[in-house]
Amino acid sequence: MTWWRQGALGPKPWKEITVGELDAFAEEERETFAPSSLYRAKTQSRFNPQLRLPFVDELLMPTIERAIGQRLGEVIDSVFGELREEVGPERLTDEATHQLLKDAFWLLAAKILRDKDVPSFRSIDLTDAREVLRRVGEHYGEPDQILHKKPKHLAVMGRAAGRIAAVSHLGQVTTEALAYLYETTLVTGELRRTLGIHSTPPYLTDYILGRLEDKIAQIPPDQRHVFEPACGHGAFLVAAMRRLRDLLPEGEGSHSYLQQHLRGLDVDATAREIARLSLTLADIPNPDGWRLDLADMFRGDILSKIAAKSTILLGNPPFESFTPAERERYRLAGSPVTHESRAEEMLWRTLPHLPPGAVFGVVVPQGVLRSKAGRGLRSLIARDFSIDEVLLLPDNVFAFADVEAAVVIGRRSAGDAPRLVRYRRVREPEIADFRATYRTASDRTILQDELARGPDFDLRLPDLYEIWRRGEGSSLADIAVVGLGFQHKGPNELADGAQTLSKKRFSGAVRGYARVGRGLQIHGLPEEVWLNVRKDVIARPRAGTAIGLPQVLVNHRPTDRGPFRLKAVLDAEGHAARDAFLIVRPRSADMPLEVLWALLNSAYANAYAYTHATKRDIDPGVMSAMPVPRIVPEDAAILAREVQGYLQAASDLDRAALKLPAEAAACRARLRRIDALVLRLYDLPPRLERRLFDLFAAAGDERSGVPFAWPTYLPDGFSRRVPLYVYLAAMDDSLAEMPAVSEATSNWTGENLKRLSSSDLEEEIEMIYEELASLSSYGAESRPTAALAARAEDRRRRLRILQEEDVRRLSEAASRDRPRRHEEVDQLLKEYGYTPRPNSTLPASDS
Ligand SMILES: C[S@@+](CC[C@H](N)C(=O)[O-])C[C@H]1O[C@@H](n2cnc3c(N)ncnc32)[C@H](O)[C@@H]1O
Repeated sequence: MTWWRQGALGPKPWKEITVGELDAFAEEERETFAPSSLYRAKTQSRFNPQLRLPFVDELLMPTIERAIGQRLGEVIDSVFGELREEVGPERLTDEATHQLLKDAFWLLAAKILRDKDVPSFRSIDLTDAREVLRRVGEHYGEPDQILHKKPKHLAVMGRAAGRIAAVSHLGQVTTEALAYLYETTLVTGELRRTLGIHSTPPYLTDYILGRLEDKIAQIPPDQRHVFEPACGHGAFLVAAMRRLRDLLPEGEGSHSYLQQHLRGLDVDATAREIARLSLTLADIPNPDGWRLDLADMFRGDILSKIAAKSTILLGNPPFESFTPAERERYRLAGSPVTHESRAEEMLWRTLPHLPPGAVFGVVVPQGVLRSKAGRGLRSLIARDFSIDEVLLLPDNVFAFADVEAAVVIGRRSAGDAPRLVRYRRVREPEIADFRATYRTASDRTILQDELARGPDFDLRLPDLYEIWRRGEGSSLADIAVVGLGFQHKGPNELADGAQTLSKKRFSGAVRGYARVGRGLQIHGLPEEVWLNVRKDVIARPRAGTAIGLPQVLVNHRPTDRGPFRLKAVLDAEGHAARDAFLIVRPRSADMPLEVLWALLNSAYANAYAYTHATKRDIDPGVMSAMPVPRIVPEDAAILAREVQGYLQAASDLDRAALKLPAEAAACRARLRRIDALVLRLYDLPPRLERRLFDLFAAAGDERSGVPFAWPTYLPDGFSRRVPLYVYLAAMDDSLAEMPAVSEATSNWTGENLKRLSSSDLEEEIEMIYEELASLSSYGAESRPTAALAARAEDRRRRLRILQEEDVRRLSEAASRDRPRRHEEVDQLLKEYGYTPRPNSTLPASDS
C-alpha cells in the first residue's frame, strides 16, 4: 500500500506499507485516522493549523460531497417518480407529495444505514419494503408508519426498494452530501422563493460554531440548549452536535444528552426529513429521536417559548420580505408580524427571550444591519447584547441567492463592561481564500458603542473605518454643494412631440451633458449634447438645470467595480447636466475648482466612494459627508497650479499622434504628485496611508480615465514606511520646495526617517503614547483651553480604534519607559476596554 501526502505541488507518495505491516501500521496510526481527527482536520484546522492532516484536502472534499449528493439526487428522483406513477395523473396535495418523498427517503435511509454498518440494519433485506419501514420506523421512533400503508403502495415501494438496493455502496454519504441533495434536487424554484431556502455552506456553520466555542464552553454542560429556527436540513444542528460532543469529556456526549440539547424547527416536511437523516448520520449508530418541530415559526408564540429555554441560538432564517397576503394571514391568525423581513421578525421573536448568558450566531441579509424597520431590534441588541463579531459577506456565498449577507455573533450580556466588536469583511475575490483559511484582509476591533451609534443603531462599518474616522470634523459639504443632475420626464409623461435631447441644436435647447461615456478622461469633459431644460419636460430639476456656475462633475454610477470609482471633470463654464452626474460646486469663490477636482480624483475620495457607496450608485449625501482636510489658501493655490499643469500635459499627451513613454511617465508623475499633495493635507499616518494604497493594489490598481497606463499607485522603490509625499519630495525638488511639503518633510529626514524604516507602526504607537503622556499632564491645568480639550478628544478617539496588536505594543512601549507612564497608559487602555499587558513587562530597574 502506498500512503500519499498532500504537498504544495500536489500529492506525493510518502510511505510504502507491505501487507505484513498493515496491522501494525493501522494500530500505530489509529489516532490519525480516527473519524474525530478527520472531522477536526476538515472543520477546525482553519482556526488551528495544528489540526491539519496532510492527507485531508479540505478543498477537494466539497467536490466529492457534491458528486455523492448528485448521485443521491438521481436515486431519490427515480424512486419518487416510481411512487408518483402509482398515484396516477391527478395533482398531488402538498401533504401527499411530502409523504411520497418521505417514503423515498426512508428507503434511502435504510440503504445508507446498512452500508454504514449500523447493527440493527446489518442483516436487512433492502428489497423488503415492509421490513425496511419497520426498521427505519423503529430507528426513528415512529414505529407505526407501516400501519398507514396500503398493500398496493407497499408493493410499489418494494420495487423501488429493489432499485435502491442495487445502487453502489453508500457508506460514504455525509451530512454535507445530504445538504447538497436538499438544495439542488428537492427544492423547486417556487418553493425556494416562497420559503426562502438557501442552505448555509458548511464552512460558514463551522466558522460560526468555531467562533462561539469559547463562549459555549462557559455555559454549564447541562444548560447548553441549542435552537435552530428555520433549520432546513439542519446545517447548524449538525455542526452544533459535533461541537457539543467535543466540549464534553470523552464518552459523556451521549445520544440522550444530544437529543435533549438540540432542537430545530421548520415548516417544510421534506426539510425536516433530511434534517433527521443528517442528525442520524452524524450520530451513528444511535437511533433517532431528534426534536425537530414541524411548524410555522411566525404563528403563535412558538419562537419566544423555545427561545426562553435556549442558550445557543443558531440559524440562517429566510431572507425574503413578507408578502402583503402573508402579513394579512398572520394578522388574522392572531400573530401579526412587525417587521418587513422574515429574518428580522425571527430575531425579534427570539433574541429578547433568550436567558442571560445565552449566545447567538446567525446569518442574515445585510439589510438587517441598517433597515429602518430593524431599528428597534438593533437598539435592543446594542443595549442587551455584546456583539462579538460582524462578518460581512459578498453576494456569491449561497448557491441560489445573490444577496449580500452578514454573520452576527453575540451574547446576552449582563453588566456594562466595555464591549469590543470584531468587524470583518470578505470581498468577492477573497471568498475562496476565506473558505480555506478564514482569513480576510479587512479585520478590526472596535468598541460596540462606536459601532451602534446614532439614532438608527446602524451596525455597518465601512472598510478603512480608521481613516474616515480620523477625518471627522469637516466634510465636503462644508466647502462645496453636492447635488445630482436633473431628470427628464419619462416617455409616457412627455407631451407629444416634446424633444428632450439631441446631438443637433433645437429650439430652446441648451448645451449640456447627458452621459458619462465609457471613455471619459479626467482631463476632459463628457460629450456635449443639446438638452431641453424647460419646466414642462423636467421631472426633477435638482442641481442640474442651473447654468453658468463653475462646477466639477462626477459620475453618479461607479465607473468600475474596483476601488477606482470616480471620474471628476472640471466644468468651469457650468453646463446643464442630467442625473448621470453628481454636481459639485464650491461654496466660496476662494475655493479653486481645481482643488475640488484634486480632492475628488484622489486615492482618498476613490477609496471613500468604494467603501461607502452601493454597487449601483454614488449617493450625493454620502459624498457630501466625505471628510476633507483644512486647506489654507497657500496650499489651495499650489494645488490649483499643479492641477492646471496636469490638465494641460494630459491633453497634450492625449492629442499627440505618438505617445512617447517619457511623456506618459511625466504625465503620470504629475497626477501622482497631486495625489501626494492631497494626502499630505489629510496627513494620514503612514500606516493608514499604506492601507489606502493596499486597497488599490489588492484590486489590481487598474485606472481608467487617464491617457497613460497606471500600473500601480506607488512608484517603484517606494518603501511604504513613509508618506507618499515624503518619498516623492526626496526625488523631486520642486515638490520638496512647496511650503506645505517642505515644512512637513523637515521632520522626515535623517535619523527620523531611519528610525521609521524599522517600523511605521512603532512610530504611530510612540506618537499616541507621547500624546497620552501629555494628555495626563493636561489634568493638572485648572482650565484647559478649547484647543487643548479638542486635542485631548482627538487622542481619545484614536485610542478607541487601536488594534489588539497596537495595544500590546503600546503597553510594551510604555513599559520600556517609566513605570508611572506605564500605569497611565494602562489606566487609559482599561478605560477603553482593552486588556493591557501584565505588569511583569515592567523593567525592574526603572524608577
Ligand atoms: C435560508 S433556509 C435555511 C436553512 C438552514 N437553516 C441552513 O442554514 O442551511 C430557510 C429555512 O426557513 C424555512 N422557513 C421558511 N419560512 C418558515 C416559517 N414560516 N416557519 C418555519 N420555517 C420556515 C424554510 O423551509 C427553510 O428551510
